[in-house]
Amino acid sequence: MTTEPLLSVRNLAKSFGGVQAVRDVSFDVAAGSITGLIGPNGAGKSSVLAIVSGFLAPTSGSVHFAGNDVSGHPAYRLARLGLVRTFQLSSEFERLSVIENLLVATPDQRGERLRDALAGRWRWRAEEDSAVTRARELLARFEIPAKEDDLAGDLSGGQKRLLELARALMAEPKLLLLDEPMAGVNPALIRRIEAHLLALRDEGLTMLMVEHELGVVERLCDTVVVMAQGQVLSSGTMAELRTNEEVLDAYLSG
Ligand SMILES: Nc1ncnc2c1ncn2[C@@H]1O[C@H](COP(=O)(O)OP(=O)(O)OP(=O)(O)O)[C@@H](O)[C@H]1O
Ligand SMILES: [Mg+2]
Repeated sequence: MTTEPLLSVRNLAKSFGGVQAVRDVSFDVAAGSITGLIGPNGAGKSSVLAIVSGFLAPTSGSVHFAGNDVSGHPAYRLARLGLVRTFQLSSEFERLSVIENLLVATPDQRGERLRDALAGRWRWRAEEDSAVTRARELLARFEIPAKEDDLAGDLSGGQKRLLELARALMAEPKLLLLDEPMAGVNPALIRRIEAHLLALRDEGLTMLMVEHELGVVERLCDTVVVMAQGQVLSSGTMAELRTNEEVLDAYLSG
């Protein structure tokens, strides 16, 4: 039995002026997998994530998600369908409390809530709001050791990563796109985040993850897509890729 991939990217291309960041990229993400996207700096990995998540319009090519052609759909529509990406916490979000960061990420009231929160006009009644319940569950699950009213900006680098993961999960995604979720995280916390991602995968969340740390990719990813210079060089398991000369030359040996 073959199951439809949850995500299919076909012939994706993106130019920024004269720079062809993405040339002709095609790959699938199987439902229930953690798929890795690796490659040297400037390979076009973040651009691919930005296109797939609707933050960047492709020059050409298509994206199918859960059986629908979503090519060129904006990010807010994709989020409603269950396709969500993580960001690093911006300075604005650092001014919000830990729980506000989660509440502004609930899909339908994002704009209004964010405006209120930033204007210091935050108001919600805990007992009325299922989003608050979900936010508290996620803070407990990820053991974010802050009081919910503490400012997100006062968390450690690794705790900010966990908060960002929790924030993405507020939207209850089916497919989560992660761009270097371990960057700047200490080794002990890397292992904890890995365990969280594997548990989420076991609960049915599909992930596409850009990551430079190959040990992390090896431990987490079922299939790995290798990009270089805007193109897909190869894909397979890490074990298969380690025997591929072209991949070794372009990336793994370097
Ligand atoms: N908004 C932009 N305007 C102009 N050029 C861009 C823009 N975004 C990316 N690029 C260029 O496109 C190419 C691919 O960039 P991208 O960020 O997708 O690579 P990456 O694989 O994520 O790299 P890294 O591993 O360093 O994060 C690079 O040459 C980059 O300079
Ligand atoms: Mg990048």
